[in-house]
Amino acid sequence: MSCSDLGPNCSGQTLSRLFLPDIIHNPSLATALMASHLPLPVVDLNIHQGHSDDPGVAQALDRALSGFGFCYVTGHGVPREIINELFQANRQFHAQTETEKQSVQINRYHRGYISDQSSTLVTSSIEKPTGPNHSASFMVMQPVDSAHPLWGSAVFGPNQWPDELGARFRGVIESYYQAMAELSRYLTRQLARALGHNTNVFDPFFTDPTVFLRLLRYPPIKSPGRVKGYGAAPHTDHGFITLVAQDGRRGLEVRHPDGRWLPIEPRPASFVLNVADILSLWSGGRWPSTPHRVTLGTTERFSAAFFFDPNFDTWVEPLNCPNGSPNHSKSVHYGDYLMARFDRNYAYRHAGTDESAPASEC
Ligand SMILES: [Fe+2]
Repeated sequence: MSCSDLGPNCSGQTLSRLFLPDIIHNPSLATALMASHLPLPVVDLNIHQGHSDDPGVAQALDRALSGFGFCYVTGHGVPREIINELFQANRQFHAQTETEKQSVQINRYHRGYISDQSSTLVTSSIEKPTGPNHSASFMVMQPVDSAHPLWGSAVFGPNQWPDELGARFRGVIESYYQAMAELSRYLTRQLARALGHNTNVFDPFFTDPTVFLRLLRYPPIKSPGRVKGYGAAPHTDHGFITLVAQDGRRGLEVRHPDGRWLPIEPRPASFVLNVADILSLWSGGRWPSTPHRVTLGTTERFSAAFFFDPNFDTWVEPLNCPNGSPNHSKSVHYGDYLMARFDRNYAYRHAGTDESAPASEC
């Protein structure tokens, strides 16, 4: 596949925008949303039926993501019990006292507890932030040990587990993590196929993937209309793909190109899949990384966001733009991009400085 196959989506103008985290557009997005007003497309992965290598899945993903950059995935093969237990663990964590939660306060490797209103989406030019996000999180990443060549730097340090919640809490989260990592690897192969490549084209970039599992609680707000801010201010995700499990309460919204915000209704037994900045770049702009947000509500809301990203030291450039094209020299170092966003968005990374809590969903 070449740039010409992608038409205007692979132009230099589009790629220049790809390096901005919040302005990755696909012209078909406007058309699709304007024309239909329908909910997000649904892609049945058919994994539960043993059809995991069905080429129709790649085609369906391409159709869905070319329009919205967002879709629901069903038939994903992650057992309902594992998801239910994960949500119970999420509630259990956030039901602890603040002191107990602070015992695993987020460490310099971005693992642990992120308290309410301690992140602000300052990397977004979609909308000027009015204050920190109204949410709290427990963050777990891929396990690494001291033998890792990057141990002690960036995100390469230990996860933190609250002693009070015991081994079962950790076991539930690790089971969910493993199931979601397996699903993400499957999706990565299908996305490669959807871009017209062999299913293993991404494999060299995912030998040591960067993975975030974020257990989120959005607190109830008595009068949401009178409170400035969001559960998560408008942003795009920084990495490859995001898979979000919702608890049945509204709040997640995706931005229409005309500026309207459209709700992503909770859908049972599904995950919301969205394209993030790095995958959008890899796709040559074929799939947009679309701005989204979480609004405030009167009841508490729980969700689990699973971010599956490439190896930290991955240089990313559009797969579908051939050597010699004006765009081939455009590339982004995933790890640098990640750390730049973290440095700007999280208060804990500014301890001892004059900077206030600045926000990314991840
Ligand atoms: Fe997000």
